[in-house]
Amino acid sequence: MVDLTHAKWRPNRYGGSEKKRTLLFDGKIYMVKFPEPPRSKKTSVSYIGNQFSEHIGCQIFQALQIPAQNTFLAKYCEPVTGKEKIVVVCEDFCQNGNRLLEFSKIGHHDTGSDKTYTTTIEDVYEIIERFDFPVNKFAIKKHFWNMFVVDALLGNPDRHLDNWGLLEDSAGRIKPAPVYDCGSSLSPLSSDERKDLLLKDENLMKIEEYNLCSVYRHQGKRIFYHEILKTPPADLHRSILEIVPRIKFAAPRIDALIDATEEMTDISKTYMKKSLAMRLNQMLLPALKKAQERQASEDAESRGFSR
Ligand SMILES: Nc1ncnc2c1ncn2[C@@H]1O[C@H](COP(=O)(O)OP(=O)(O)OP(=O)(O)O)[C@@H](O)[C@H]1O
Ligand SMILES: [Mg+2]
Repeated sequence: MVDLTHAKWRPNRYGGSEKKRTLLFDGKIYMVKFPEPPRSKKTSVSYIGNQFSEHIGCQIFQALQIPAQNTFLAKYCEPVTGKEKIVVVCEDFCQNGNRLLEFSKIGHHDTGSDKTYTTTIEDVYEIIERFDFPVNKFAIKKHFWNMFVVDALLGNPDRHLDNWGLLEDSAGRIKPAPVYDCGSSLSPLSSDERKDLLLKDENLMKIEEYNLCSVYRHQGKRIFYHEILKTPPADLHRSILEIVPRIKFAAPRIDALIDATEEMTDISKTYMKKSLAMRLNQMLLPALKKAQERQASEDAESRGFSR
């Protein structure tokens, strides 16, 4: 594992809520996220495990052919305390003249309305519909829902409007930005003691790992992943049909990349694999089956009409 204790740091250029530093390494710029003590007292961990969540979450997106930031894990020894930390190093995708347009910022361009956009599906659609620059709106909606399906797999409660966006290149072309900020996925707040307990109790594990909410609201209600996947809106229906087969195919590779993660405890690896398998088998595969049945009956109906 790379040791960043004597690395070349640059003044930090990234926002967000977690501690981070900007690194120049091998001629490239990286955002380095540091582990932090949790802000909530509801957890038993002394440090949040989101560096593993970030690294593995982004690798899972990439394994599913959805562009995501490149990451690697590294060591860092605090000079004053001598304490060693594991950090996640994220390659900046805004080099070569690219610019990240966080979705929340694009919402501000709407000067014709004094509305403040929030994390609702309706607002995401309204912002996209009001885009008045050349962009493939269908591709952006598709990206949003593809990401949503993978976030359901990862149990991500935090894909808010600052945590995804578009990328504008130096020629002004705009496309979805690589996925970044997966740090709240994959249970970063659970200690190994808690994971051990949950692994021994199927019901408790299901409450904690299946019954999860997205950050978004839809029709006035907070979205539970398992609920919306049962009766998806049309655009989510299409993403289920496209992404869930890819997840099924990539599942052994995803397990292998978790197993290969350095400095992660065996209990955390077992827990992560089991929670992913639970959400795939109990939530995403049944959703795929339903979506395929719905598709088959819609196809049969349209053939009937065309006869
Ligand atoms: N790989 C990257 N390349 C360029 N900019 C990035 C990259 N990753 C993140 N950013 C920018 O840095 C900001 C902070 O990063 P990130 O969202 O990962 O941090 P955070 O502290 O976890 O945020 P949050 O407040 O959502 O918890 C992002 O909102 C985005 O603007
Ligand atoms: Mg963020």
